[in-house]
Amino acid sequence: MVAITDVVSLENHGEIAVITVDNPPVNALGVKVRKGLADGITAAIKDDSVKGIVILCKGRTFIAGADITEFGKPAKEPGLNIVLDTIENSTKPVIPAIHGTALGGGLEVSMACHFRVAVASAKFGQPEVKIGLIPGAAGTQRLPRIVGPEKALKMIAIGDPIDAKESLADGLIDEIIEGDLEAGAIEFAKKVLAEGRPLKKVSEMNEKVEAATGNAEIFDNFRKSIARKTRGFEAPEACVKAVEASVNMSFADGVKYERKLFEELMAGTQSAAQRYAFFAERQANKIPDIPKDTPQFEINKAAVLGAGTMGGGIAMNFINAGIPVTLLEVTQEALDRGIGIIRKNYEISAARGRFTQEQVEERMSMITGTLSMDDFSEADIVIEAVFENMDLKKEIFSKLDNICKKDAILASNTSFLNINEIADQTTRPESVLGLHFFSPANVMRLLEMVRGDKTSKSVIATSMSLAKRINKIAVLVGVCHGFVGNRMFSQRTRETDSLALEGAMPPQVDKVLYDFGFPMGPFVLRDLIGLDIGWSKETSTGSTIREILCEKDRRGQKTGAGYYTYKKGSREPIWDSEVEKLIIEFSEKKNINRREISDEEIIERSIYPIVNEGAKILEEGIATRASDIDVIWLNGYGWPIYLGGPMFWADLIGLDKILETLKKFNNQFGDEWKPAPLLEKLVKEGKQFKDF
Ligand code: 3HC
Ligand code: NAI
Repeated sequence: MVAITDVVSLENHGEIAVITVDNPPVNALGVKVRKGLADGITAAIKDDSVKGIVILCKGRTFIAGADITEFGKPAKEPGLNIVLDTIENSTKPVIPAIHGTALGGGLEVSMACHFRVAVASAKFGQPEVKIGLIPGAAGTQRLPRIVGPEKALKMIAIGDPIDAKESLADGLIDEIIEGDLEAGAIEFAKKVLAEGRPLKKVSEMNEKVEAATGNAEIFDNFRKSIARKTRGFEAPEACVKAVEASVNMSFADGVKYERKLFEELMAGTQSAAQRYAFFAERQANKIPDIPKDTPQFEINKAAVLGAGTMGGGIAMNFINAGIPVTLLEVTQEALDRGIGIIRKNYEISAARGRFTQEQVEERMSMITGTLSMDDFSEADIVIEAVFENMDLKKEIFSKLDNICKKDAILASNTSFLNINEIADQTTRPESVLGLHFFSPANVMRLLEMVRGDKTSKSVIATSMSLAKRINKIAVLVGVCHGFVGNRMFSQRTRETDSLALEGAMPPQVDKVLYDFGFPMGPFVLRDLIGLDIGWSKETSTGSTIREILCEKDRRGQKTGAGYYTYKKGSREPIWDSEVEKLIIEFSEKKNINRREISDEEIIERSIYPIVNEGAKILEEGIATRASDIDVIWLNGYGWPIYLGGPMFWADLIGLDKILETLKKFNNQFGDEWKPAPLLEKLVKEGKQFKDF
């Protein structure tokens, strides 16, 4: 075996040369891989004893793309397109042997080869759009030539991978290898040689793109189909334009056009934000004082208390991951209702073709309903999701302490309450932590993991692994009222309420925040969640607009009216003069002089206090890093990924500008606007959140 670079080697197996890439963890196409591939191919072409070439990867996957850590830095030679030209122009057949995921540049390398083989579990995709880019090494020109422009549009502008079976049907691979991949790929290469198959150069396969030349409709229809989902994003439109170029330009011109679009996106802030988010999510898994080898508990059985909005969704997460759940309620009626909702959710999924009726039954058989906590004695983890009431939670944890087995993890899904106080009801506070899911709990990927003063490292390490198993993105935070997400979110709620009373009616505020990139405005959101969460008729005093609306039975979408009104069966908010009048009267009652409020002020008033609170949270050590806060906002609060998260966005806007505005509002509106000392410090030192 000859080492071409540190990470690429070459070995001849008779007349077949095998080039092996070994660049953990995912064989990304860093400069050493690119150079190794180019030099390895060149060496194999020069070697007269070699008749065919196989590209193989060591470790868990084939090349999973360009090395994203190199992006935004000066480019190093050789560039990927040159490597691909060397491959495609080889006079000897080049065949990638694919396992794991051939993604981005990895798929582009494969498509520059003459044939492709893969194991049955392999996946293939161009996910660049998810990091705000388009494929940058001819993927937008080669993929439509293989799978046709319509399929390529989907794969490139949406970015989801396809499996080996589909790839085989689409001609993206030539054969699925059963058994040993390397041996199978070598055999395939020998077959190609024996049959004298002509080398397929994808850049010259024009049939499928020519069939669509001048057909603008394909692209316009596709644009319409993704418009809602891709609102605000720049990359998807660039993907469509690049694929459109493949049908209307020559391959060479198409590649040049693709490069131009790729470079524009690379220089922009959206891709920078999306790349940042990619690494932030992975960074959140790394907890400085909890090493990778921290002992963990086995989790085979779960128990959930409360089959309400959250408990039902939480139970589904476990069932979906194959972990059986015992679900506890106070009455048979509540239990039946909770389990009924879970069944309904699964049946909706089955009706949509996501799984079979048999799978619905299989999942339902993994839930055991109970009215007795004694049935929790075997559970490895218990998650409490009863009403948000400290006394109730304390009583429950004290009972759990008596019933649950020694190493069981005891978790609360509380939104705001103090985990330490709850933990102190038990004789084992080291086993207690907060696992704060987001609604709907079976859909939302965020899991705020709240570390109590005494929570053990093993409990955290186990919960982190468990989060991955149930497909959640976990972020570890400390104890404070509302933890990271809700504590910051409360700031926005306070300010948007004030804005409504000072002069910016809900439709204006909602439009500004929707245009900013949130999936919906704050008042529409409140109507959706329900205005009556935490409200009761008995204690309501008409002291806020929300209370007044609830008293009028305008409790949100579910009652057909909240801040807005809703026609039966519709989710379309309609502004209502009755609410407008009510808000104006309330302003008068409070002696607030209503004024015209600019859209810019709405952004400053509703987003800057989020940033300020984030700074306090960082300073108090409630969050480990600014990027953890961003991961929470991206995955739990609908912050648009192309703006990176509130802390990333603040760095982008300029901390000095934010500080200056906070000071202005501090004078104008009072203490709630006092700038966080950390913000003052960073500005003084010319630093950013990312430096903290
Ligand atoms: N570049 C650099 N590092 C990468 C990387 C990449 N393309 N892909 C993954 N990594 C790193 C991760 O940061 C992580 O590092 P860490 O262990 O230090 O946290 C490690 O590899 C493992 O990644 P995951 O935790 O995500 O591992 P999984 O097994 O869960 O997933 C994966 C593997 C499916 C390959 C996933 O990592 C992934 O989707 N990667 C990104 C793929 C991608 O976007 N490719 C396109 C890149 S852009 C491109 O190719 C441009 C081209 O057109 C020119
Ligand atoms: P919910 O009112 O929908 O459900 C609570 C359920 O707990 C009810 O079905 C009730 O019968 C049951 N219950 C009450 N006492 C019980 C007991 N002793 N034993 C067993 N079951 C009992 O409430 P929801 O919205 O599910 O909230 C539950 C918890 O999750 C709260 O702490 C809340 O703050 C938190 N949370 C709520 C979110 C939301 O959006 N609804 C989001 C994140 C957290």
